[in-house]
Amino acid sequence: MCGIVGYIGKANAASVLIGGLKRLEYRGYDSAGLALLDGDNVRVSKAAGKVANLSERARTDWTPELFQNAATGIAHTRWATHGPPTEVNAHPHLDETGGIALVHNGIIENYRALRSRLETKGHHFLSETDTEVLAHLIGDCNKGDLFQAVCDALHQVEGTFGIAVISAKEPGKIITARRGSPIVIGVGNSEAIIASDASAILAHTQRVIYLDDNDIAIVTADAVDIRDLNNVPVTREIAELGLDSAAAEKGGFEHFMLKEIHEQPESLANAIRGRLDLQLGSSVLAGMGTSQRELADLSRVVMVGCGTSLHAAMVGEYAFEDLADIHAEVQQAAEFRYRNPILGNRDFVIAISQSGETADTLAAVREAKQKGAFVMSLVNVVGSTIARETGRGVYLHAGPEISVASTKAFTSQVSVLLMMALKLGRGRRFSRDEGLKLAREIESIPELVRRVIEKNDTIAEIAARYVDNEHAFFIGRGPMFPVALEGALKLKEISYIHAEGYHAAELKHGPIALLQKGTPVIAVACEGPAKDKTLGNIEECRARGARILGIVTEGDHDAEEVMDDFIAIPRAHPLVATIPATVALQLFSYHVAHLRGCEIDQPRNLAKSVTVE
Ligand code: F6R
Repeated sequence: MCGIVGYIGKANAASVLIGGLKRLEYRGYDSAGLALLDGDNVRVSKAAGKVANLSERARTDWTPELFQNAATGIAHTRWATHGPPTEVNAHPHLDETGGIALVHNGIIENYRALRSRLETKGHHFLSETDTEVLAHLIGDCNKGDLFQAVCDALHQVEGTFGIAVISAKEPGKIITARRGSPIVIGVGNSEAIIASDASAILAHTQRVIYLDDNDIAIVTADAVDIRDLNNVPVTREIAELGLDSAAAEKGGFEHFMLKEIHEQPESLANAIRGRLDLQLGSSVLAGMGTSQRELADLSRVVMVGCGTSLHAAMVGEYAFEDLADIHAEVQQAAEFRYRNPILGNRDFVIAISQSGETADTLAAVREAKQKGAFVMSLVNVVGSTIARETGRGVYLHAGPEISVASTKAFTSQVSVLLMMALKLGRGRRFSRDEGLKLAREIESIPELVRRVIEKNDTIAEIAARYVDNEHAFFIGRGPMFPVALEGALKLKEISYIHAEGYHAAELKHGPIALLQKGTPVIAVACEGPAKDKTLGNIEECRARGARILGIVTEGDHDAEEVMDDFIAIPRAHPLVATIPATVALQLFSYHVAHLRGCEIDQPRNLAKSVTVE
């Protein structure tokens, strides 16, 4: 979603800020802007569209000297919420005097009331945004101390924010604060870089401070002074990012998505490494922070997430019930807190999120904690808000996922859920031998995925036959049902083909009316208890002229026979097979989108980390 970068150092702020914005491009945005301190003035440059437009625009708006010499500035990529993605709505926004500039992620929910109050005091607004209202409010509160003005303004605000503020009257400092929208401060040598996401910081320093909700910091080139909104000092540790800046590069692939799909044998090995206990036939997930005794006492697993993470949770639901004999359910994070969920202290709530910042998933975590459940997270981004607020959990170790469409995070999520189910299952019903058998299957996941990736060229050829369709259906049963949902999501988000995922049996309860000659039906029909029934459902589609692409198990000629095209994946336990089956669909979607000339890594209207409700 929106991205923030702030820089304070000796010079060259403009280049650092533009470089930082480029690193945040993957999050999805539709306009960008930049403000620099220049003596008694704040200079602003903005552009609709890409950061490249902004870079060009700033070079015409500003002198080369300003470009090179300015030492303090803030910058933003905006994903429109209030008002269209125009230059005037782009951040930074200025206060009434023009001397204070603000960039903001999040939503000021009471901005209408604040705006009319300020208008009666003579403020004039140029944009339709909630952010401009906050900039004016800070200006209105300013009695000569920017830090205090920001505190006073934030006390009046309802909603979420991650902000960075500069003032021409107080050069040499940036004020930054957060509530519900992440802020990370990179601490360098006589320079500091503020960002909403560590990827903008990587190239400068590995030493970072994560702000907590309601923290506000005064950042200078040499110090970071953090307080709460009542001006009481708080201590936040400096952490090491431990990320390699090369991990955020394309490494020879045309798109981040393709790179990330290809990284999966390695990212899965990282997710699994050291976590299987081949002596006891179980798994070792120390981050869960629960003893076998506590796990044995649990009555229910509840998983929450959004989008692709929700689909991973749905695979997990099958795994927990099937392998661990425990009641499991999935709830949409967006709905969780509003339905007043019934939870107790024997419920185990698992929040699943790649970014660890998704607003709805975070709110679900807070609700589950209120209700006294065991809460843990399954998150990729180390130090993210969900990881910190749950305090216990399992990191995915998938490395930075830059492409907006999630790929390697999903497969790591499913493999960790399988290891959790194994651990619970071992405590409840599995013998050592049964546990060991499953552990060996999980251990083989990276190799299974490598074998699917080897079929990349064949999958690209098959994809070419589906490029001209505007609609597609994905079907599956059992654990392959969420795989079908995930396949449909991947195809629609990057190729803009209208794709629907259904339980294979559900198609005939309505959607089958849409099938015509040649309508693609992508059927996940791998070996497993549900396969024969899925083949029956495929026949129903064929009888109505659909073109069938099947994901089948290698050597399953019965299945191949009912397909127009098929991608064969290696034989595996039906739950484990969800992972290679998904990888096949990721590659299929990628190639369809590529052949349609789509902007794969940053699909229209989408954001990488959804920090608003
Ligand atoms: C789809 C996709 C999204 C995310 C969703 C949740 O490819 O990436 O559906 O899965 O926005 O994001 P996280 O996992 O960061 O909570």
